Amino acid sequence: MADRGKNLRIDAARLWQSLMEMARIGATAKGGVNRLALTDLDRESRQLFTRWCEDAGCTVSHDAMGNIFARRPGRDNTLPPIVTGSHLDSQPTGGKYDGAYGVLAGLEVVRALNDADFQTEAPIEVVVWTNEEGSRFAPAMVGSGTFAGVFALADSLAITDADGLTMGQELARIGYDGEGCGGREIGAYFEAHIEQGPILEAAGKPVGVVTGAQGQRWYEINLTGQESHAGPTPMAVRRDALVGAAAIVLAVNRIGHEFQPGACATTGMIVSRPNSRNVIPGAVFLTVDLRHPDDARLAEMDTALRDAAGAAADANGLDLALEQIWSFDATPFDAQCVAAVRGAAQAAGLAHMDIVSGAGHDAIYMAGVAPTAMIFVPCKDGISHNEIESATPEDIAAGGQVLLQAMLERAGGS
Ligand code: GLV
Ligand code: MN
Ligand code: MN
Repeated sequence: MADRGKNLRIDAARLWQSLMEMARIGATAKGGVNRLALTDLDRESRQLFTRWCEDAGCTVSHDAMGNIFARRPGRDNTLPPIVTGSHLDSQPTGGKYDGAYGVLAGLEVVRALNDADFQTEAPIEVVVWTNEEGSRFAPAMVGSGTFAGVFALADSLAITDADGLTMGQELARIGYDGEGCGGREIGAYFEAHIEQGPILEAAGKPVGVVTGAQGQRWYEINLTGQESHAGPTPMAVRRDALVGAAAIVLAVNRIGHEFQPGACATTGMIVSRPNSRNVIPGAVFLTVDLRHPDDARLAEMDTALRDAAGAAADANGLDLALEQIWSFDATPFDAQCVAAVRGAAQAAGLAHMDIVSGAGHDAIYMAGVAPTAMIFVPCKDGISHNEIESATPEDIAAGGQVLLQAMLERAGGS
């Protein structure tokens, strides 16, 4: 990279201002955002991003999954682009930073390059991936996963929400059903994100050099017993599906504790039917999320879950259907891209440490098709997927500066 590139700086106040403005779309009373994938609010956030990118001189397009690409040309446009981004969809009780930070840090890189009239050798692209959260439409990371060829496009478009609406229908409704998905070369992919855990804050480091991500498995469990009257039905003859589910919830938590260090185990959703106070629940649906940085340990957690669910069903006379609906293995990032992030933090004089991502990110799927790395910044008390999610303007700026320099390392220019 030419020396001039090393002196480029992002505009911290502008990045912060953009984040705050984006957070108005779907703002919640507690200071967070509710911007579920492919809702009208998601469309609004996409349109704001698009307007900002066009104002910054980018050409904006979207693909068949509604992934949006804002392209700033390079000097040699035959080179594969250096790409950055994240997602604008949120959890139902999400924060201002999860996803939006990575997208708007990418926009700030473009704006900073424009301010300096800096021409990169390779083109730069800022991407908004569709449905990263997996909350309205399961699983997570569907836009990037389809781009990377992990999911077939037709399967992704057929995913339904709780009301039976498909991603394809909702993409068409909000005007983001484009043509094709993936299959093109990416020079490198970088993603900035809040850590969503407590490690950087505890260590007092503004920058996490993300070396990879832990593995993850999602399950859906259906337990079927028998509905009957809460009064006349003797305890001895009941087939109470919610009692079986309760045993599974406790087992999931126990598995998380037993597989330390590193394990995480969560039951995030439970639906009991008919959900009437004087009817013994006849059917329960619940979800399980298991994670571990070591694939062999994650496989052992899987066995422990299946054993516990089988025992809970047997003990309560229930039929059990347990399906693993999604998984990815622990994913190391590209050594050179990780080194570019570390070098950028060093050059900016920012305290940093290596860290493994506990969360899922679009970067995990991108790592399968392009050299990839991530940059983490701390968030207050390590809390995320919560409306009170918070990060400081200084840390947000630090990650943006590292993103700019890491991208320039790969894009070149003068
Ligand atoms: C993504 O938000 C995850 O669940 O890690
Ligand atoms: Mn995220
Ligand atoms: Mn998230």
